[in-house]
Amino acid sequence: VKVFVPRDSAALAVGADEVAAALIAECQCRGLSIELIRNGSRGLLWLETLVEVEAPQGRVAYGPVEAADVPALLDAGLLSGGAHPLCHGLTEQIPYLALQERLSFRRIGVTDPLSLADYEAHEGWAGLRKALALDGAGIVAEITHSGLRGRGGAAFPAGIKWRTVLQTEAEQKYIVCNADEGDSGTFADRMVMEGDPYMLIEGMAIAGLAVGADRGYVYVRSEYPHSIAVLNEAIERAMAAGFLGANLLGSGRAFHLEVRKGAGSYVCGEETALLESLEGKRGVVRAKPPLPAVQGLFGQPTVINNVLTFAAAPLILARGAQFYRDHGVGRSHGTLPFQLAGNIKHGGLVEKAFGLTLRELLYGFGGGTATGRPIKAVQVGGPLGAYVPESQWDVPLDYEAYAAMGAVLGHGGIVVHDDTADLSQLARYAMEFCAIESCGKCTPCRIGSTRGVEVIDRLRADQNREQQVVLLRDLCDTMLHGSLCAMGGMTPYPVLSALNHYPQDFGLTRTQAA
Ligand code: NAI
Ligand code: SF4
Repeated sequence: VKVFVPRDSAALAVGADEVAAALIAECQCRGLSIELIRNGSRGLLWLETLVEVEAPQGRVAYGPVEAADVPALLDAGLLSGGAHPLCHGLTEQIPYLALQERLSFRRIGVTDPLSLADYEAHEGWAGLRKALALDGAGIVAEITHSGLRGRGGAAFPAGIKWRTVLQTEAEQKYIVCNADEGDSGTFADRMVMEGDPYMLIEGMAIAGLAVGADRGYVYVRSEYPHSIAVLNEAIERAMAAGFLGANLLGSGRAFHLEVRKGAGSYVCGEETALLESLEGKRGVVRAKPPLPAVQGLFGQPTVINNVLTFAAAPLILARGAQFYRDHGVGRSHGTLPFQLAGNIKHGGLVEKAFGLTLRELLYGFGGGTATGRPIKAVQVGGPLGAYVPESQWDVPLDYEAYAAMGAVLGHGGIVVHDDTADLSQLARYAMEFCAIESCGKCTPCRIGSTRGVEVIDRLRADQNREQQVVLLRDLCDTMLHGSLCAMGGMTPYPVLSALNHYPQDFGLTRTQAA
């Protein structure tokens, strides 16, 4: 009997290894034979450790399971999908999963992340095979037509970036994956690396074939040791099987891939600081132009994309650009893996086509707050994203609609706060975060963030409030328009949205805050 216990960090954090060990020991004691598979997480994080059993009726889910539950679960007939208070029936029919549109996450939690056979049996390498039959321009045309935009947060069209690298002449080009997933409340990149590493490898190899780069690096944040271990093992296995290396699937084309570990800096998620770090230097932002697509790693043309951007490429090639393009709304094509976090009852990964609303995510999937209190504010798009008030929860989640209201979708992180949150404190935190993480290269960010903390402190302490509002708005304007990168340039988003939508938390009326 196949039994699945996730190896994803989120499951390990709540005792998945102990559950796996208890299952092995207890089954041995009872003379029961099981095949234990350490899968990725299904992303229903409140149910971790989620144990699944391949029963005659399909895969049956149990959760949240602790090691101490194992004997009782076996007594209840776990191995044949027996009834138990922790049983949720067929995994695929759990509404949280059934209502999703899983494209990039279609294999995650289903397969054994490191099994090449499992990957191949679930559409693996189909995109790479298709890419090998096309020339670079043909691959770029597919990516362009799919409408795929950069999933790191900036949503720049991936096809245009790849075309720039393809058209820039150079002896050596590089593919770099930004896996420095630093946004608070985000974990989609990590889930891909731990739950379906071959998808990322395949996506990067496709990018290499597209632009003529035979070497790639995955820059993973040091806080993700399990991702690093899984990726390294996957790269080794893919090399041995000919899916990476000097002769991709016997084609004579090469693609070599290595993992590099970051050192805990948020700003190293900014692409040029990441490239500096990858070159062995201090992670300081470079001025653009030149764009990395023209002069990137070691001064060579470089495709640098987020994990989710590369992860979408295999499916686009395998099923065709139109299939991907047909998902979503407006100019936001495809799906976004939203990550529900913070004070939320059912936190986890929800992959949906663009166009659903925040309210559907918060209540339809998330089930409201974990504390049971009303939701007050939702930060969308990481620590540099705006706080979105209830009046905007019915706006469709698409890049343009969010930009129009002064917010961002970013990397799809959604952090929920209940009515006990003090938005002036969260605004202060945004400035403080910027002061701590600033690389120090430009003045608006390096000095502005510290001045920002001081102004908000004075506001909160009721020292000449109306003058502080003028100062804070002026400072935010300077940071927005004068910063060299998104760190200083976007810190005003959370600050101004807090001030505009929650003036009472600053001791101000709406008119005083304006
Ligand atoms: P950007 O708008 O400067 O650039 C977007 C991308 O397009 C870059 O890779 C840039 O090199 C490329 N590009 C722009 N014009 C091009 C052209 N003509 N040809 C080829 N390539 C071109 O934005 P940036 O600074 O790279 O990213 C900011 C975003 O990062 C923010 O929106 C924020 O949401 C996100 N972010 C994500 C984090 C995460 O953990 N995923 C953390 C912090 C910020
Ligand atoms: Fe560095 Fe901040 Fe300027 Fe970005 S905005 S270059 S992080 S000082």
